Amino acid sequence: MSGMNAMGARHPIDLTVNGQRRSIEVFAHHTLLDVLREDLGLTGTKECCLVGECGACTVIIDGRSVDSCLVLGVEADGAEVTTVEGLAVDGRLSAVQRTFLETGAAQCGFCIPGQLVSAHALLADVPHPTRPQVEEGLAGNLCRCAGYEQIIEAVLSGADLGSSTADDGRDQGRLSTPAMGDRSATPDAELAPQ
Ligand code: FES
Ligand code: FES
Repeated sequence: MSGMNAMGARHPIDLTVNGQRRSIEVFAHHTLLDVLREDLGLTGTKECCLVGECGACTVIIDGRSVDSCLVLGVEADGAEVTTVEGLAVDGRLSAVQRTFLETGAAQCGFCIPGQLVSAHALLADVPHPTRPQVEEGLAGNLCRCAGYEQIIEAVLSGADLGSSTADDGRDQGRLSTPAMGDRSATPDAELAPQ
């Protein structure tokens, strides 16, 4: 009985997700990935290996890129979390989101949310990285389509544009339907484990 109660118990946490304060109750055994996808409906963060190998679930927690499948939801209490949905600002794609589109970095798209989040975390630390720094920064993000060359080019080009956050107002960066987050989420919905 106690085991059932432990599994069924929810715990209140407060966290900030993409700039919004969220107060929710989460299962003790749920990962932050579960919380983002199931409790907050943020399905841009992908679910794949669940053991910290693929990087599909990458989010930024308090400035560090992290595999959200390896973090319990309760551990995120008080944290500031950025997901792929939070990379665009005021409806405008970030520079790196734009260059991912322009270089054709997204093939099936499954790994792209995690790649983008890792790229943003890297560029926040190193605004003008070398190619080896990009390779190292994205080393934890696997791409089953093997689109590494285009992805690295996209990050280097995004860095050249000089911003890892909001774009410079160019019209092509304006989010439309489908948006970047939706674009990467749409084909993945069938691939992601339910
Ligand atoms: S799903 Fe988290 S690293 Fe693969
Ligand atoms: S674009 Fe298909 S897994 Fe990376």
